Amino acid sequence: MIAQTNIVSNSSAFDLETPVLETKRLMMRPPHRADIEDLAIIGNDRQIAEMTSRMPHPYTQDDALAFIEGFENGQNEGCIYAITVTETGRLIGMGSVENRARFGGLEIGYWLGQAFWGKGYATEAASALVDLAFRVTETDVVLAACRTNNPASRKVLQKQGFEFLGLDEMDSRVAGRVPIERHSLEREIWLAKKAEESQRASQ
Ligand SMILES: CC(C)(COP(=O)(O)OP(=O)(O)OC[C@H]1O[C@@H](n2cnc3c(N)ncnc32)[C@H](O)[C@@H]1OP(=O)(O)O)[C@@H](O)C(=O)NCCC(=O)NCCS
Repeated sequence: MIAQTNIVSNSSAFDLETPVLETKRLMMRPPHRADIEDLAIIGNDRQIAEMTSRMPHPYTQDDALAFIEGFENGQNEGCIYAITVTETGRLIGMGSVENRARFGGLEIGYWLGQAFWGKGYATEAASALVDLAFRVTETDVVLAACRTNNPASRKVLQKQGFEFLGLDEMDSRVAGRVPIERHSLEREIWLAKKAEESQRASQ
């Protein structure tokens, strides 16, 4: 076994289905309308929106509904995840693996409600997103980006084995045009990390 993420309902058509992902503490599943209230509560945070390109602030239930309708209508080319805690079922954030052809391939993204920061959840979720991208597609590289003033996100990426690619700019709905860092993770590095984890687990 090379990866700990459990892809529950597998799909060979990456762009059509969002397979449920299970990690040690998290259940990552497609978002649905029952998430709207919680999504609007945890997402209504300027500090989160400023780090993303598409989130508005304030973030209302209408915004949450529009986001989920977009997902239902297939607006996103890839998988969008509601990140929940398995034990409680509680929604704590959102994640994604999307096809960003103009940036050179699949890109992961994530955000968590502030009450859930600092517990290793983003690291766990990012690992599952990376596993999905490499296991369900033949891509050689997975991409990610974070603002230059986002050391927590940079750390989450570094812990997956992502390497700094270069600087760029992003249009954030809330923060305007801001500098960002692009990072990439090569399949070879992911495989080596998985082999290492597997060896450690068997010791
Ligand atoms: C970025 C974000 C997802 C991190 O979530 P999280 O669950 O707190 O992350 P984790 O606990 O898995 O890991 C965070 C790591 O960053 C480190 N970190 C946190 N703040 C830091 C800071 N100011 N400077 C340096 N490192 C920092 C933590 O110590 C941890 O590393 P460690 O496990 O080695 O100790 C969360 O803060 C968030 O949602 N922010 C707003 C939205 C966002 O930035 N999304 C990403 C867009 S690219």
